[in-house]
Amino acid sequence: MDDELPTLQATGGGTAGEQDEDIRRLGPWFHNLHLPGGRQTAPNHPLGDFPAFKWAQLAPCLPEDLSGWRVLDIGCNAGFYSFELAKRGADVLGIDHDEHYLEQARWAARQFGLETRTRFERRGVYELAHDPQTYDLILFMGVFYHLRYPLLALDLVARRVKRLMVFQSLSMPGDAVMEDTDSKRIDERKVMLEPGWPKMAFIEHQLAGDPTNWWAPNRAGIIAMLRSAGLLVEREPGDEMFLCRPQASPPHAEAVAAALAEVQKGFCGKA
Ligand SMILES: C[S@@+](CC[C@H](N)C(=O)[O-])C[C@H]1O[C@@H](n2cnc3c(N)ncnc32)[C@H](O)[C@@H]1O
Repeated sequence: MDDELPTLQATGGGTAGEQDEDIRRLGPWFHNLHLPGGRQTAPNHPLGDFPAFKWAQLAPCLPEDLSGWRVLDIGCNAGFYSFELAKRGADVLGIDHDEHYLEQARWAARQFGLETRTRFERRGVYELAHDPQTYDLILFMGVFYHLRYPLLALDLVARRVKRLMVFQSLSMPGDAVMEDTDSKRIDERKVMLEPGWPKMAFIEHQLAGDPTNWWAPNRAGIIAMLRSAGLLVEREPGDEMFLCRPQASPPHAEAVAAALAEVQKGFCGKA
């Protein structure tokens, strides 16, 4: 913590001393939130000022005024992005399957005075299978590669996007994208070894000490999977970040709908 900050400075949720104690009690933090009054929740983050430096890349690509926009932040963590979007006027639902992070997010919402614009609920991404709600903007950042069934989740998420989606994933090195991957013969499979062929590496054990890092798609794979789920990449605001719009007529709509109907039957016990 920054020792030079006055210890009795007023904050959204109490004195600075109380804020320090709350930050300690609610830790460890993955998001370095810059709180009113100057405190930060993870000032020594190994990735730097995370995710503020990613937001600096993304922020200019999103509308300044999000009044009237309904936003879903999947894997919201401590809510950094949820708060930035709420500050632009959006109504934000942040979901995460980890109560530890949700507790941080709810506490931080009070510090920012954003309790009425943000809501944080414990939900897993697959639960979107039985949530008919659509959203103007969905953030699906930092979650895809943590999922055992990533394409299922992507199909579920894509169906809920009305205007924009921001996708971010850990990826494999390499920027190449092969444009024509259609209708290859069975004896032409060697082409799949080309760097630009859409690929996703499976991580059986763990990567960077995290056993939930299941997958690392390459850039071509990310763009192709998004397109296949009905989302066209419009911009790449930063490394591994993709701003997408839903296609009017998504490809494979019938196949996806049939697969998701089976999943929904499983979740809801009815067709
Ligand atoms: C790497 S962090 C990314 C946080 C944030 N979205 C970002 O980009 O900074 C992954 C977050 O997704 C959450 N998460 C992982 N799997 C999830 C799932 N199946 N459903 C909902 N949240 C999940 C984790 O608890 C964690 O908060």
